[in-house]
Amino acid sequence: MKKIILLGLLVKMLWSSDILMMQNIKLPMLKMIDNNLTFNMIEGYQDYKIVATHYRTDKNELRYVLANSIAYKAFKEKAKVMPEGSKIVKIGWSVKKMDFFPDATEADQILRVEYMIKDSKSFDANGDHWGYARFVKKEGKYKSWDKGVQECIGCHSAVKESDYLFTTFQDTY
Ligand code: HEC
Repeated sequence: MKKIILLGLLVKMLWSSDILMMQNIKLPMLKMIDNNLTFNMIEGYQDYKIVATHYRTDKNELRYVLANSIAYKAFKEKAKVMPEGSKIVKIGWSVKKMDFFPDATEADQILRVEYMIKDSKSFDANGDHWGYARFVKKEGKYKSWDKGVQECIGCHSAVKESDYLFTTFQDTY
C-alpha cells in the first residue's frame, strides 16, 4: 500500500516537473557555412521563454524573441552586456487573418529560426562576441542560411551600445 502511494507521488511529481513538460524534438543536422554553428546548438529552444514580440510592417511578419535561462535572467535584470552562454532565438512567422474573427491577425507559418549565442572564445574576431546562425524553413523543411554571417554582424552593429541587441525585455505586467 505504502509503495503504491509513493509511486503515485513520484508520478505526480514527474508529471508537474519540467522534465516531462520539455518538448524533446530532435532538430535536423544543419550547419552554417562560415562559422559551423549548428541548429541543434539550441535544442530545446521550444521551451525557452519569450522576452519580446516584434512586427515587421514591411515584411508583414511576426517575430518571437525567446531566451534560454541565462539570457532570460539578464534581459529581465536589464543587464548591459549578456553573460557567456546566453542564447537568444528569433522565430519569424508569416501571418493570416483569424478564420472566425478576420480583424484579428495570428501567426501562420514559421519562415525561419535564427539565433545568437554569446561565446567570447569562439567569436572574439567578430568584435561583438556573438555567434550568429539562421535556418530557413521552406515547404516544411529547414535549410541553413547560405549567405554567411557578415550581414548579421553588419546590421546588428547599429545597436552596438546595447550589446548588439535590438530587443529589450517586454514586461508582462
Ligand atoms: C538588416 C538588418 C538585420 C540583419 C541583416 C540581421 N538582423 Fe537580426 N535583427 C534585426 C532587427 C531590426 C531585430 C529586431 C526586430 C525583429 O525582431 O525583427 C533583430 C533581431 C534579432 C534577434 C533577436 C535579438 C535582438 O538583437 O533583438 C536575433 C537572434 C537575430 N536578429 C539574429 C540575426 C541573425 C542570425 C542574422 C543573420 C543571419 C541577422 N539577425 C541579421 C536586424 C537585422
